[in-house]
Amino acid sequence: MSLGKLIENLKVNGPHVRDATGRGNLAVLKSMLGPAWRGLIKQTGKEGTTTALPVAHDVHFDWQYERDRTEMARLYEAAKVSQWNAATDVDWSLDVDPDNPERALLPDAYVPVKGLPIWENLSRKEKNKQVHAVTSWMLSQFLHGEQGALFAACQVTTAVPWLDGKLYGSTQVVDEGRHVEVFHGYLTRKLEKLYEINDNLYVIVDALMSDSRWDVKFLGMQIMIEGLALGAFGTLRKMTREPLLKDILKLVITDEARHVHYGVLSIQEFVEKGISERERREREDWAFEVALLMRNRFLAHEFYDEFYAHAMTRKEWDEVVNRSEMMQMFRQTMFKRIIPNLKRIGLLGDRVRPYYEQYGLLAFEHGRAAPELSAQDLLDDAA
Ligand SMILES: [Fe+2]
Ligand SMILES: [Fe+2]
Repeated sequence: MSLGKLIENLKVNGPHVRDATGRGNLAVLKSMLGPAWRGLIKQTGKEGTTTALPVAHDVHFDWQYERDRTEMARLYEAAKVSQWNAATDVDWSLDVDPDNPERALLPDAYVPVKGLPIWENLSRKEKNKQVHAVTSWMLSQFLHGEQGALFAACQVTTAVPWLDGKLYGSTQVVDEGRHVEVFHGYLTRKLEKLYEINDNLYVIVDALMSDSRWDVKFLGMQIMIEGLALGAFGTLRKMTREPLLKDILKLVITDEARHVHYGVLSIQEFVEKGISERERREREDWAFEVALLMRNRFLAHEFYDEFYAHAMTRKEWDEVVNRSEMMQMFRQTMFKRIIPNLKRIGLLGDRVRPYYEQYGLLAFEHGRAAPELSAQDLLDDAA
């Protein structure tokens, strides 16, 4: 990347880096700086067809082979009998037509400019094109997140010290592989449009992948990203009128419900038994930084570059997105899943509560956390 482009990215992404490192906890700062540099300034995730990222974490062999975690063992059994095949259990013969109002991909409100004159003056055809693009953008981010989840599942399977955790983890590896397959299939065969990874999503995936602490991987992937994904999948499934997408999301949600449950079980045990107060605080701060990145920074710049860069500055776009109905919806669903789980695993202590409160996020704390929430609840999008 040229020096000019680096400086330009530094200027544009300065506030994003600040969000990624804002709580001032030195340990958190250290763990986030590398990912923020690679994701926001160097835009590593957009550099080429592959990205190489050196990682370093301990893998744990378990020579005792003790099966002593019954809830995890139950999850493992459930996972084995709930496998599905993305190639044959989804009806790929269904046609997707973004111009058919009976099978609309998403409501117009998913395009952040809806309601503004710049949107209202567009033809129906052009609006459909943008709804199609925004759907592709979101699903592309899910796809990239699923690739991250696939790697994270591999990592935690090697790193978790208990056999029941490893056995369960092996099923999640297969699940995530299938999710990559199914989203990639839908994007390339049906929507025929694929976007690059969003820089902020890259930062989060990079951060948990390169962190040496296995519980931070769980926290980042199973609680934060999967919590976000569950919220987003549930809302999308409710909002879309496209039958194939509805089916795919239903299958994926059922798997993800187990993944979040696995994350809650593992971290809860780890936090309760295994760490010092200082370490617990680091996790608390880390989770808050990631929550902030998620809340503030998924602003669909890749979509903006394509459709609105000629009409407004990026700063104006950010303001439009932040005020939009779509963003309200997005935040609502995202934190509805994450906050109760953070509370359950003991990472929403008095020290950080005011920070969450400042962003209105404590409103979600009384929602149900993972084990009480069945896959059916999630499909019904129940709180
Ligand atoms: Fe997944
Ligand atoms: Fe998952």
